[in-house]
Amino acid sequence: MKIAVGSDHGGLELKKEVVRYLEAHGYEVKDFGTHTTDSCDYPEFGVAVAEAVVHGAYEKGVIICGTGQGIALAANKVKGARAVVCSDTFSAEMTRAHNDANILSLGERVVGKGLALKILETWLKTEFEGGRHTNRVDLIKATENKNFK
Ligand code: RB5
Repeated sequence: MKIAVGSDHGGLELKKEVVRYLEAHGYEVKDFGTHTTDSCDYPEFGVAVAEAVVHGAYEKGVIICGTGQGIALAANKVKGARAVVCSDTFSAEMTRAHNDANILSLGERVVGKGLALKILETWLKTEFEGGRHTNRVDLIKATENKNFK
């Protein structure tokens, strides 16, 4: 599976751990930046990852900032992105099973490395359940079609 990753400076260290984990588990990874500790703007990287996922080059995305919140807000402005902030494994499982999330957002200043990697593992291995949840995800898509130009 091809995975796009991105972070701002606040998520850089955790992103390195995430990339290490993904590569060790056989995923093909592209890091859309940032690559330094210099202060930068999280929307740039959230949007780059979301566009890479939505346009089909990458199956899933992982984005990281200090809280996971700002970068997810930005990613979700890309039509087709379903970015979710997870700080626990239950949410990681449910956001895949019920919401068909395509981008996982983590907060480096919120979760430790061990929990973050467990969240990532859970999120990646959980399949969308479909069924009654398909209609709900379709309603999100219909709302996008109505409101996004
Ligand atoms: C950067 O200081 C910080 O604001 C950013 O990483 C993130 O937490 C924003 O949501």
